[in-house]
Amino acid sequence: MLSDIHEASSGLVARLRLAGPPCNAFGTDIDDLTVMVTYETPTRLHVVIEDTATHQFRLPTQFFPRPIGEEISAGDSDLAFNYEPSPFAFWITRKATGDTLFDTRLSSLPTAPTKALDGEVLDGFQLVFEDRYLQLTSALPLDANIYGLGEAVATSGFRRDISQNGTIQTMWARDAATPEDENMYGSHPVYLEHRINATTGASASHAVFLSSAAGADVLLTTPRGAKQSLVQYRLLGGVLDFYFFAGPTPIAAIEQYGALAGRPAWVPYWAFGFHLCRWGYADLADTRAQVERMRAASIPLEVMWNDIELYHDLRDFTTDPVGFPPEDVRAFIRELAARNQRYIPILDAAIPHVANDTDEYLPFLTGFARDVFVKNPDKTTFVGQVWPGYTVFPDWFAGGVEEWWGEAIANWSALGVEFAGLWLDMNEPASFCAGSCGTGADLTNTTPAVVFPGEPGNLVTDWPEGYDAHRWGTSGNISVDGLLTFGDSTAVRGSALAVPASVRRATRDPNDPPYAIHNGWGDLAEKTLAPNATYAGGIVDLDAHNIYGYMEERATFRALRRIRPDERPFLISRSTFASSGHWSGHWLGDNFSKWSYLRYNIQGVLQFQLFQIPMVGADTCGFNGNTDEELCNRWMSLSAFVPFYRNHNVRGAISQEPYRWDSVALASRAAIAIRYAMLPYWYTLFADVATNGTPPMRALFFEFPDEAELLSVDLQFMIGSNVLVAPVTTPNVSTVTAILPGRGHVIWREWYKHLEVAADATHNSVELNAPLGHIPVLIRGGSALLLHAQPAYTTAETRAGPYTLLISLDATGAAFGHAYVDDGISPPDTVGAIVNRTLRFDVSDSALAISSSGAYIITQTLTDITVLGVLAAPSGVRLAGGLPAVFTYEAGVRRLNITGLALSLNENVRVSWA
Ligand code: GLC
Repeated sequence: MLSDIHEASSGLVARLRLAGPPCNAFGTDIDDLTVMVTYETPTRLHVVIEDTATHQFRLPTQFFPRPIGEEISAGDSDLAFNYEPSPFAFWITRKATGDTLFDTRLSSLPTAPTKALDGEVLDGFQLVFEDRYLQLTSALPLDANIYGLGEAVATSGFRRDISQNGTIQTMWARDAATPEDENMYGSHPVYLEHRINATTGASASHAVFLSSAAGADVLLTTPRGAKQSLVQYRLLGGVLDFYFFAGPTPIAAIEQYGALAGRPAWVPYWAFGFHLCRWGYADLADTRAQVERMRAASIPLEVMWNDIELYHDLRDFTTDPVGFPPEDVRAFIRELAARNQRYIPILDAAIPHVANDTDEYLPFLTGFARDVFVKNPDKTTFVGQVWPGYTVFPDWFAGGVEEWWGEAIANWSALGVEFAGLWLDMNEPASFCAGSCGTGADLTNTTPAVVFPGEPGNLVTDWPEGYDAHRWGTSGNISVDGLLTFGDSTAVRGSALAVPASVRRATRDPNDPPYAIHNGWGDLAEKTLAPNATYAGGIVDLDAHNIYGYMEERATFRALRRIRPDERPFLISRSTFASSGHWSGHWLGDNFSKWSYLRYNIQGVLQFQLFQIPMVGADTCGFNGNTDEELCNRWMSLSAFVPFYRNHNVRGAISQEPYRWDSVALASRAAIAIRYAMLPYWYTLFADVATNGTPPMRALFFEFPDEAELLSVDLQFMIGSNVLVAPVTTPNVSTVTAILPGRGHVIWREWYKHLEVAADATHNSVELNAPLGHIPVLIRGGSALLLHAQPAYTTAETRAGPYTLLISLDATGAAFGHAYVDDGISPPDTVGAIVNRTLRFDVSDSALAISSSGAYIITQTLTDITVLGVLAAPSGVRLAGGLPAVFTYEAGVRRLNITGLALSLNENVRVSWA
């Protein structure tokens, strides 16, 4: 019950004591708690329930900056905190509608015990606060629309399953190859809930973030017969530290989360180019051959990557003296640079342990001397095992770790590996032992205990669904003849959750917490550090496990800023946590060469927009298993419309570079040309997310929040507000049935021929032509897109060419757009801000006004303007001052083409037609 309540205009502080005898369910009850409620901004409300003694782990503010001292008066908040003192319960309401958004009152929840989640017993909804178990439950509307909570490959789709069989989202960073409905690389305890009022039709979104790194289960379910659904948090430690964001649009709620968590890093322009990687490029000759073949096939390649073959004996910060002599690596990277191309190597988290006294492996020796490795409870160095054999793990909490790591990176670069960005892998952290490999481990044996894919006993034999090698030679299930070898249904969803019920155990050992979260591998130590592995300051992995990757990203970013003060660091990392986007991008990990994983690619990228890690993409054509021509063709097309665009493949699988099949080469060239034309648009969206948290890639309902039929759509997506993509996601089809948002009030025109696309009035859907190699892309009426007029081989050459403006008018003849332009590489903090130029495009009454502001000088001119939706042929087109311009008009497409311009984008411009 609540006592000693001190209410202030900005919130309250009170004492919370146990309401009855301790239940000691999975630990020891903590009797003396403090509740703190702060109205921080009009759209953010902060509720903390913590142990008054502050012994429980909380996210250290020096690594996770949180606003201190931000508060407003409750009267200025869009949200209201309401409570009952005894038994203590609270609920959050939205003032404008009176809606209850979050509600811990037992009277709102079903009567316990109850069964849900396929046998998981929900045996109580009361608030529990113990040292090793915390539980909090909130009622939600029946069948609530919940998005987020991850990282997940959710068979239910982007919209999470909250039915009786529901969802158990476990948060425990795990090196698991993208299993369905299980915990994997990253932990993101944040969700977005979207509601559409059945009576008024009005919609509102809000978001809820639990600022905690604890190993956890978050349950979404609807107990049998209940009239409400619920979310239940079960944490292995820490405190209850909730932030509520008022929205009320989905985009506003995500922006508000970004403002708290830390907005995403600025991304260099080149990062939007096409990246090629594989595990299995045996040496530099093989790597160089890829670069040459890509060029010979005229498929743009921006960034070449190397996997662990680069290393000597699989050790970080080395190069293989035979396959990758360092001076040759340097020469290769400089060759790339001379052609505006770049290089990214892999960097694994674990550091190999030296094998003996004569083993002069400096990263280990200097790290050991400086005491920057994770320890066992007895203060000896914790030893695990990764690719190079026995390894130690950087302790990101240790003083001096960042300098040590930065030096190792700088030395590697000086050796010859003059990388443009880094690929942070195995940072859950992954290890092949269950916890410590043991004090008796034979450290002279550095032979990896794993059989690499492609080696006897671990051959890659899997193929995409429906692949039939006999039928089409080696091409598999090419669909162009229209014959179905595999159905065109997307119905691969809905497999029931099969999870073991939690087990009560008596132990208090951090290695074995009494409540067993639903970790996919059971034991928390499996394939990672032991939960009692210890960081500086006595922090145990049980408390800090989920932030290991985050801490590495932060340290690496900061090291790169010191090493290359004039450049934006570019990182792609596997394990992420809330605010990772501030330092790094993410790839979706070891997916499979399957159509189902092409589909999961879309929900994965959407999830990470919500998590504020917008620079994200999947291994295109699929990582595990063999791909085939058709899947790779469709996937190269799809990923060209996703922020991070990389083809990556497992060792031992068939090759899948886009030049391997003519049809894939053709599809890739076409899709990349559109991507590179759109680079100014992508770049502007990324400037918007870095400054405001506005997600670049969007679920349809982010843009059309009142349209209930869009809430589960996750096989189509939008890029910004103006581009809609409806990729082919199944084999053997040559059309896509797409839903057109806007319920008939929005004009959609297709990208290629600029024709208007009309939807079926009942379903707002349309069948779009999508022969192999063609991805349907639509432009929204009312938009103005600044584009590169001449997509070229690299992003640098592309942006050296002129600009073109594509205007798609709405029904009133209006359109609007904006663009952000800078040098594409300067970091934001060199001069306080990046020198930039912002352009606004306003079209109405047959006239375009471009307003230009900022200090950055754009040297390329605007040469063409295309206006779609011009109803009649204009008699003339005039520039400011009355100068006539060259134009043509095509009545069939209602298209006005204004050509032969040389307009400076550094000045305001006016163009009119009548
Ligand atoms: C991990 C990574 C994968 C990489 C492999 C070898 O499985 O997720 O991308 O190719 O390790 O380094």
